[in-house]
Amino acid sequence: MLATISPAAHGMVRSILSAARSALGLGTNRLAEDRRVLEQVILPAYASRTDIERVLFVGCAAYTQHYGDLFRGRDYWTIDPVARRRRYGAQRHVVGRVENLGDHVQGEHFDLVICNGVLGWGLNTLEDADTAFAACHRHLRERGELVLGWNDIAPRNRVLPENVPALRRFEPLMFEPLQTARLRIDAPHRHTFDFYRKPELRTSRP
Ligand SMILES: C[S@@+](CC[C@H](N)C(=O)[O-])C[C@H]1O[C@@H](n2cnc3c(N)ncnc32)[C@H](O)[C@@H]1O
Repeated sequence: MLATISPAAHGMVRSILSAARSALGLGTNRLAEDRRVLEQVILPAYASRTDIERVLFVGCAAYTQHYGDLFRGRDYWTIDPVARRRRYGAQRHVVGRVENLGDHVQGEHFDLVICNGVLGWGLNTLEDADTAFAACHRHLRERGELVLGWNDIAPRNRVLPENVPALRRFEPLMFEPLQTARLRIDAPHRHTFDFYRKPELRTSRP
């Protein structure tokens, strides 16, 4: 049922349930498999790496609020265009769209960008997605990594990563802990994680 309501309503329902459960001391709901993979495999794997110092997490909700704890002591940023979501963001939170990341950061700042549940949930046109991932590319260091999580079902997959020109500037990355560059979860939402790396600048030899 949640798949048929608007992204805003979906996020709100999820946040209210999460807040209510934690207020009642009930802990969190059993995690959906895509959330389990994100929280128990992907995020801890990156948090354990010493080369991952500067992190951007795109799109905030009550249930993502604790992700910053994993990156404590690092330069962990969040970004979301909805002003009231600041409460779920990091200390370094930007109210804005990832397409406009360049208004808030200069140069090749980040080692890692995690963009989960935003393509198809706000980044809904090819143009916006292209602008957004071009900004991620611009502000990642060489060999910096991008994790893109998206639902491969209509209407969320109206923009396919394969069709976004900016994503072709990245190389697919074999993410060691999962032994793949693309993991599709075998569940109704067909949540898919794609792993990318910004290539090293090739220096031409004389
Ligand atoms: C479905 S929620 C996903 C939240 C979280 N990233 C996660 O892992 O579940 C989508 C979030 O992305 C935000 N969002 C939508 N368009 C965005 C954009 N262009 N730039 C940054 N965040 C955006 C929405 O405001 C919302 O908070």
